[in-house]
Amino acid sequence: MDTSQVRVAVIGGGPQGLCTLKNLLEEGFDATLFEQRGCIGGLWAYTDDPNVTTVLESTLANISKYKNCFADFPTKDEDPVYLNQKQFLRYLQDYVQIFRLGEKIQLNTVVLEVISPHKDDQEEKYSSFDKVIIATGGKIIHSSRFKKPQEFRDLDVMVVGFANTAADISTELVGHAKKGYVSHRRGIYAFPRLVNGKPIDLIASRRFATIAGTMAAIAPIRSLSIQDRRIDRTSKSCSKLDPAWNFRPAPSRSTNRVMVSDTFIPRLADGSIKSVANLTQIIDKNTVELADGSNISVDCIIFCTGYARDPPLVTGIEEPIPSSNAQDNAKNHLQLLCEVADLESMAIAQIWKGAYQMLTESQMNREIDAHHRWVNAALGDEPAAAVKVVQEAKWRAWLNDAAGTNVNEKLGVDSPHVMRLFDGRRRKWDGARDAIIRANHDVEERYGKRTSGKKNT
Ligand SMILES: Cc1cc2nc3c(=O)[nH]c(=O)nc-3n(C[C@H](O)[C@H](O)[C@H](O)COP(=O)(O)OP(=O)(O)OC[C@H]3O[C@@H](n4cnc5c(N)ncnc54)[C@H](O)[C@@H]3O)c2cc1C
Ligand SMILES: NC(=O)c1ccc[n+]([C@@H]2O[C@H](COP(=O)([O-])OP(=O)(O)OC[C@H]3O[C@@H](n4cnc5c(N)ncnc54)[C@H](OP(=O)(O)O)[C@@H]3O)[C@@H](O)[C@H]2O)c1
Repeated sequence: MDTSQVRVAVIGGGPQGLCTLKNLLEEGFDATLFEQRGCIGGLWAYTDDPNVTTVLESTLANISKYKNCFADFPTKDEDPVYLNQKQFLRYLQDYVQIFRLGEKIQLNTVVLEVISPHKDDQEEKYSSFDKVIIATGGKIIHSSRFKKPQEFRDLDVMVVGFANTAADISTELVGHAKKGYVSHRRGIYAFPRLVNGKPIDLIASRRFATIAGTMAAIAPIRSLSIQDRRIDRTSKSCSKLDPAWNFRPAPSRSTNRVMVSDTFIPRLADGSIKSVANLTQIIDKNTVELADGSNISVDCIIFCTGYARDPPLVTGIEEPIPSSNAQDNAKNHLQLLCEVADLESMAIAQIWKGAYQMLTESQMNREIDAHHRWVNAALGDEPAAAVKVVQEAKWRAWLNDAAGTNVNEKLGVDSPHVMRLFDGRRRKWDGARDAIIRANHDVEERYGKRTSGKKNT
């Protein structure tokens, strides 16, 4: 296929859109990225503007630099293990510069609508593309526009939610708010960034993850409960958990997120933050009712209840994939942003090039049914509605296959650079081998020989 004849619009200049643009250009597609803001970086391009959702200026990535990087673009040696907002934004800006993406990016361009090519009313305001990637990120589904803790000085503040945003914002408020409550309906496995001195995301090796994924596919309930017991032990070995904080029972790691925070548990322990039951009702301007029947007085509520996809920009085009959340929600669960976004977009480039044959619709439907059966088995008593999940090992193996990385065939070191190591359909990166070796040396120097801390898992 002559990909240079295929015009692609990539909508959104966050990490996902940027690596998608690069991976499409690399395969010869005529791709252009449209970004509504005046800068790239998406959520990581902090602004004080309360109408624009971004991470906080104080946000530290919760995934280490060894995992949270694109396959052919390592972070700098002098970067800290966990990049902060400015460093991660600079990493994205460097990526744009090194791969000369700038000339293919149109800033200050809001895409209002994507319409079917068969629509009659083609006006001048529409541009024509053969393919569209929507990388517009998440949209906050509530009124929270938290930017600076100073705005909450001397207020009694309730944070609703018990995941990473709730942990970050509630600790950020300490020293500013008069009282801080965290209201939640379920527990969670919580970890500091470093466990026994090593980044938490280096604990499981690729081999371990593959074995665990295979076990989970064959015997979900048994294998997941074994894995969860290990995760429970590791989490408890990091921090002493007061039962009053209700971290347990926690939903399975395989079907739910974990919390990564260095500050949240210490702030619960010193009493700066109080864990309370789920918010059930706002009674009046200053009073809320909780699930345990108690009422408390608050001046302000910050909902840290997650993100939803933006409303679809697409109108009049049939959904290309059967209605299932199996792949759509993968990123929500997997989280390893740069690595997963890079792999996803390599796979898309290969599929669009015609180099990888997608399943037929009936095969996809069978896969989806099988996936739903697996989810039901894995969930046990957990409420299915709250869960967005993929079978990680299986899903990764499919992506690697579609992207043509040869990782499945050759297995490699557990680093994103391995996706560019071997000859395959997508372009190989000559720097990959050295980057993997350097990352491993660096990890070894900082944390000792093993990267798959046996005793921690
Ligand atoms: C506080 C916080 C911390 C996080 N920390 C981590 C972490 O440590 N590691 C990790 O892997 N993940 C992390 N995540 C998750 C992940 O980083 C973000 O979800 C990530 O920025 C998503 O990238 P994206 O490109 O999909 O979307 P975004 O970064 O949201 O980018 C979307 C872009 O699309 C643009 N856009 C939207 N609509 C239009 C339109 N109609 N026309 C043109 N442009 C449009 C937006 O302006 C934006 O620039 C974090 C998320 C949050 C909220
Ligand atoms: N420092 C960082 O790197 C950092 C910081 C913040 C966020 N992030 C990332 O950003 C993404 C989003 O994180 P997030 O914390 O904003 O969202 P999230 O992971 O989706 O968590 C949402 C939280 O809100 C709760 N919730 C949702 N609906 C609720 C309801 N109706 N009533 C009560 N509770 C409700 C959920 O509880 P249940 O479990 O009961 O559903 C959960 O505790 C994640 O990938 C996260 O890792 C990273």
